[in-house]
Amino acid sequence: MITLIEKIGFPLSDENISVIESCAKIIKNGGLVAFPTETVYGLGANALIPDAVKGIYAAKGRPSDNPLIVHINDIDTLNLIAKNISNKAMLLIDKFWPGPLTIIFDKTDVIPKETAGGLDTVAVRMPKNEIAKLLIDKSGVPIAAPSANLSGKPSPTKASHVIDDLNGKVNAIIDGGSSDIGLESTVIDMSTDIPCILRPGAITKSMIESVIGNVILDKNLLNEHEKPKSPGMKYKHYAPDADIILVQGNNINNVVNKIIELSNSYTNKNIGIICTEETKDFYKNYNNVISLGSKNNTETIAKNLFDTFREFNKLNVDIIFAEGLPEENLELAIMNRLKKASGYNIINV
Ligand code: TXA
Ligand code: MG
Repeated sequence: MITLIEKIGFPLSDENISVIESCAKIIKNGGLVAFPTETVYGLGANALIPDAVKGIYAAKGRPSDNPLIVHINDIDTLNLIAKNISNKAMLLIDKFWPGPLTIIFDKTDVIPKETAGGLDTVAVRMPKNEIAKLLIDKSGVPIAAPSANLSGKPSPTKASHVIDDLNGKVNAIIDGGSSDIGLESTVIDMSTDIPCILRPGAITKSMIESVIGNVILDKNLLNEHEKPKSPGMKYKHYAPDADIILVQGNNINNVVNKIIELSNSYTNKNIGIICTEETKDFYKNYNNVISLGSKNNTETIAKNLFDTFREFNKLNVDIIFAEGLPEENLELAIMNRLKKASGYNIINV
């Protein structure tokens, strides 16, 4: 398959809009289009056509029991695909949509089982990115879209990541620049009595609690041995090709010293180090050191994480030592991705 690659700039020109219109037509008619969102790039298909949705699983190599997020642009479409929408869910919608929050509802029969991975629920998100919004509008259908990476690879935060993974496997890739947030959306289950966060993201637990009161974290987020409620969270994810060892501790000097000790002990391996602006100078003697940004700017760290994983693939490192962060607010989401990428290979100091 020849993949159209279309670059879009802001503000959108008439030419940009007609490119998005032709991509919308591809989606409406059952094809696959990768597109930018504010979180990560998505691989979109018409959520109402089972064969189109099967195309997503095939292109990504994704297990078919892992349901997709349906992207919409208005509440009428939500009412078409979801039912039993609670008042608390409406409060979250009012506050956080459009934006990086995915909400799980009971599904209606409009959503085929392929889209829902065989579940009775459907995950729904209203993205904020202008290109994503226009694509949904012009296609006139809800768009099922997982992250536009090969299954198991880090989610794409740049069009070049999508091209590396999916060129030749999808009809079109829309290049809309780097993702603003760089981590996938927060997923919250509102189909149960007690709202439960299944995947942490940029909309944090405390932001949600300020709107609807107490919510819980899925048990798997507190203890990796618990079975996650979200099918996708059980797979090793987001991983670079090299093994990652995560070094965690309250005292950053101890963390740095441990990473230096480990780096010196793996003499026959090509090692990489993931650190912050504050610590990078401690690793001057090592070659493959990437700072994610200042520890005081977690938005930047979130934005750089997946790109850094992919950079390490180019450097051909065998093993990566990564500094841990305190697990609160946005850092909870960053640490969730890092822990999963490490396969829970964690050293506490
Ligand atoms: O930011 C994002 O959410 C991006 C952009 C493209 O919107 N999408 C994304 O999709 O990350 P994906 O498929 O890579 O991750 C969706 C997660 C998976 O862990 C999946 O198992 C979970 O959401 N999920 C989807 N539907 C679900 C459902 N009905 N119940 C529980 N978990 C669900
Ligand atoms: Mg994904």
